[in-house]
Amino acid sequence: MAIKLLHSFVAAVLSTTTVLVNAQTSAPLQFAGVNIAGFDFGCSTDGTCSASGAIPPIQQLSGIDGVGQMQHFFDDGYNVFRLPVGWQYLTNDQMTGVLDETQFANYNTLVSDCLNIGAYCVIDIHNYARYNGQVIGQGGPSNEVFAELWSNIASYWKNETKVIFGVMNEPHNIPDISAWAESVQVCAPCSQSAVTAIREAGASTQMILLPGTDYASAKTFVSSGSADALGEVKNPDGTFTNLIMDVHRYLDSDGSGTNAECVTNGIDDTWTPLATWLRANGRKALNTETGGGNVESCINYVSQAITYQASQSDVILGYIGWAAGSFATSYVLSQVPSYSGNGWNDTLLVSMAMSPKTNKFVVTVA
Ligand SMILES: *[C@@H]1O[C@H](CO)[C@@H](O)[C@H](O)[C@H]1NC(C)=O
Ligand SMILES: *[C@@H]1O[C@H](CO)[C@@H](O)[C@H](O)[C@H]1NC(C)=O
Repeated sequence: MAIKLLHSFVAAVLSTTTVLVNAQTSAPLQFAGVNIAGFDFGCSTDGTCSASGAIPPIQQLSGIDGVGQMQHFFDDGYNVFRLPVGWQYLTNDQMTGVLDETQFANYNTLVSDCLNIGAYCVIDIHNYARYNGQVIGQGGPSNEVFAELWSNIASYWKNETKVIFGVMNEPHNIPDISAWAESVQVCAPCSQSAVTAIREAGASTQMILLPGTDYASAKTFVSSGSADALGEVKNPDGTFTNLIMDVHRYLDSDGSGTNAECVTNGIDDTWTPLATWLRANGRKALNTETGGGNVESCINYVSQAITYQASQSDVILGYIGWAAGSFATSYVLSQVPSYSGNGWNDTLLVSMAMSPKTNKFVVTVA
């Protein structure tokens, strides 16, 4: 921070482009987004999902207007949408890596809507590192099956530069964090893990998000050993290019994202140590879930957290709010905008803190 301020000062003295330099410090995040949930409904934290429990945010499937929501957010400066889906939805309740054609086509409707808008789109397998209660590679589906799933997904979108592969939502209670890193990882030249499978399917350059344990906790990312374990994951060519750490942070009293009120901005216990680790190790992170109730405490604390992220934008790419999509507007963390004939009306937290239209933290990328 101090160094940036000094740069601005020096630039102001030396050049006439003062305004541009200052503008840069107020619009520095690469991404701001919203989760468009629904295909993940019916999933619980033990990785039990039922395909029939999903509520696709797609009007043609009798759902809510997910594409309308995304277009509205995009028009306000958001540029990424995370699209959670249960593994069981994609395979029609079969524990396999083979995609069910009809189910995949339904999910692809949402992904295509997102891509057509021009946004980045995160494919998020919302299974907590499990399938029906069993941990991937540690008693549950083998790494080969998990790799096959990702190979099939990545083959489909390998030419889409704006697809981001979210390997897994919120791993937790992982018996062996190194074994989890192996499930995520590469054992080049074999294809028994997600990253290798994605790259070998031809998706050679897109971002891949790597989640640690404790529900992808940003707060314990370093202390849980997730940082060191996932820090070993490489592309098949040996590089770390576009392997991004995937972290979540809620600001309520127990950090669970289930309470309306926020009690902290998380800067000292989470974002500062995380940014320090990322910088020391030459890595970056994306905060793919954060949010809070539509109350003043969250407007204040979320604003502070995002402002801090923006000051660390050399290592923190941005944030994605939880959540819009198929949630009821009465859901405690709802970011579902309502349509009222003459336009969309945002929830309080979105309009006062999270929308790039308000905070101006995202530069529109062509
Ligand atoms: C990807 O692009 C290549 C080269 O243009 C093309 O041959 C292939 O069919 C495309 N694959 C998909 C899945 O779109
Ligand atoms: C917009 O949303 C806010 C908060 O949810 C609500 O208080 C307000 O009445 C809404 N306005 C309109 C015009 O729907």
